[in-house]
Amino acid sequence: MILSQADSPGNDYSRIDHFSFEDCRSSCEADDGCNAFTYNHARGVCFLKRAANQWTTFFAWASTGIKLSSLKPQEKTTAPAEQGEGTTPPASAAESEGKAILEKNCGRCHSLEASSESPLPQAPPLREVYLKYPIDQLEEGFAEGMGSKHRDMPQIQFSPGQVGAILNYLGSITGVDPATRTRAVIPGETPP
Ligand code: HEC
Repeated sequence: MILSQADSPGNDYSRIDHFSFEDCRSSCEADDGCNAFTYNHARGVCFLKRAANQWTTFFAWASTGIKLSSLKPQEKTTAPAEQGEGTTPPASAAESEGKAILEKNCGRCHSLEASSESPLPQAPPLREVYLKYPIDQLEEGFAEGMGSKHRDMPQIQFSPGQVGAILNYLGSITGVDPATRTRAVIPGETPP
């Protein structure tokens, strides 16, 4: 497919100067690793690309070609084989344990998902709580029970292992690793 007046930014693996549009197109066609190209008509430059970007930008003097075959979703033929080796990383076990704890104790009020509203509108989704508080305050809060925040909830305390599992789960849905979260800085104290 050829798009005129379009640039597909990024993913270049080769740049060829002083080339014609037809040469650019056939070079890409001939190379299995080439899935898109942008040709700059004004300068006669051909950019061969490993992949088309998700979008193209308007560029008056360029044409972009995209191999439609490259846009089909890749079938994950290797995935089941990898799982078959029985190497489930321990982190994902901890994550699902964390989710189970939250589902049992918090899910009827708070959203536990990466997106979605809380069942109880006043209760903030736990992903937001996770991102809002410094990591040590969360650890402390979960370990000591969230009682002060919750008039209408029995106080629940979690063991350090459970706290770790909860934080791993919240880390996995937010994409923010608990280990890299900042700790609270007490005013006047120099952080480590
Ligand atoms: C009965 C419903 C209910 C359950 C169950 C519940 N919460 Fe809440 N939670 C709320 C509501 C409502 C609020 C917001 C109002 C408030 O602060 O009192 C809240 C607030 C919070 C906050 C404070 C958020 C902030 O920004 O200050 C935290 C942290 C929290 N919940 C964690 C939990 C955890 C962890 C669990 C499970 C162990 C849990 N909650 C279970 C209703 C609930």
